[in-house]
Amino acid sequence: MPLLEQIIQLEKEALERIGNSDSLDSLNAIQVEYLGRKGKVTAVLKQLKDVPPEKRQQIGAAANKLRVKLENLLKEKQAVFAPSGIKTIFDPTLPGTAPRVGAPHIINQVMGEICQIFYGMGFEIAHGPHVETDYFNFEALNFPPDHPARDMQDTFFVEGGRLLRTHTTPVQSRILAERKPPIKIITPGLCFRYETITTRSHVAFYQVDGFMVDEGVTMADLKGALVAFCREYFGKGLKYKFRPSYFPFTEPSAELDISCFLCDGRGCQLCKYSGWLEILGCGMIDPNVLEHAGIDSEKYTGYAFGMGVERPAMLKHKITDIRMFFNNDVRFLRQFL
Ligand code: DAH
Repeated sequence: MPLLEQIIQLEKEALERIGNSDSLDSLNAIQVEYLGRKGKVTAVLKQLKDVPPEKRQQIGAAANKLRVKLENLLKEKQAVFAPSGIKTIFDPTLPGTAPRVGAPHIINQVMGEICQIFYGMGFEIAHGPHVETDYFNFEALNFPPDHPARDMQDTFFVEGGRLLRTHTTPVQSRILAERKPPIKIITPGLCFRYETITTRSHVAFYQVDGFMVDEGVTMADLKGALVAFCREYFGKGLKYKFRPSYFPFTEPSAELDISCFLCDGRGCQLCKYSGWLEILGCGMIDPNVLEHAGIDSEKYTGYAFGMGVERPAMLKHKITDIRMFFNNDVRFLRQFL
């Protein structure tokens, strides 16, 4: 075959092979096969000396053009597979793809912060079942059957006469029945109530309850623990007030309000212009509750408190809809990494 035709043929063949090549190894092999010392294009160049002088320039130019074209093309393609020039596809100097890192849900974060503060005050942490008996959820807590106070907590009943616990206070009933004072425990967890779902209430929500039973425990101990907690969690300078209230399992009972940390008690949208935020329920454990658990109420006294988790979380992070916590919308959750 005349040299010029060979060159055209070689070009066609080489371009097709480079085009189909899908690895650095095959590109390198093509380079050797065409441009190497014993390569096909090199062979053509070597034959130039035998070409009659009047044709040599034309054929020589065509052969050189092909050589340069293949060299450039190979270099370009090789760079795709080995961008840094290293003869490997893996380039450790390139920035990696960061893996998506998860984080605790905001509710778990808040519960963790609350527990951490009480843990620092010497409270143990205990858990109980979500599906409870009427006894531990109500009766042991001094809600007799048909007592109107049961209506304070609309209940989901499940098969076998059991129910979904309406608060975490039944963990207190269980621990009192099992252990002897001194006891100092907090009980974080999920609770359920048959409520209409709105921006402010949900059928599932978290609470942290706590209680202490020992000889000589007084309302002053309750006050000391709760004020210390609020100052730690909401801020040092806040004011507080204990308001009389009612719970069947405490006597006397109270609710703790703190001065609004957003407006410092002057009145704003967050505190509904009252200057105060309701934080928790508390009181001295009713002697009936201790006696139910077989604890001598003449010898021992105790205090107890219970707080929602969503509400402080909403207040602190200015979240206006409780449903956000349960929707699993990562755009919302990512704000609290
Ligand atoms: N269990 C009550 C509720 O869900 C909250 C509560 C109030 C718990 C006073 C307590 C307490 O332990 O002492 O409404």
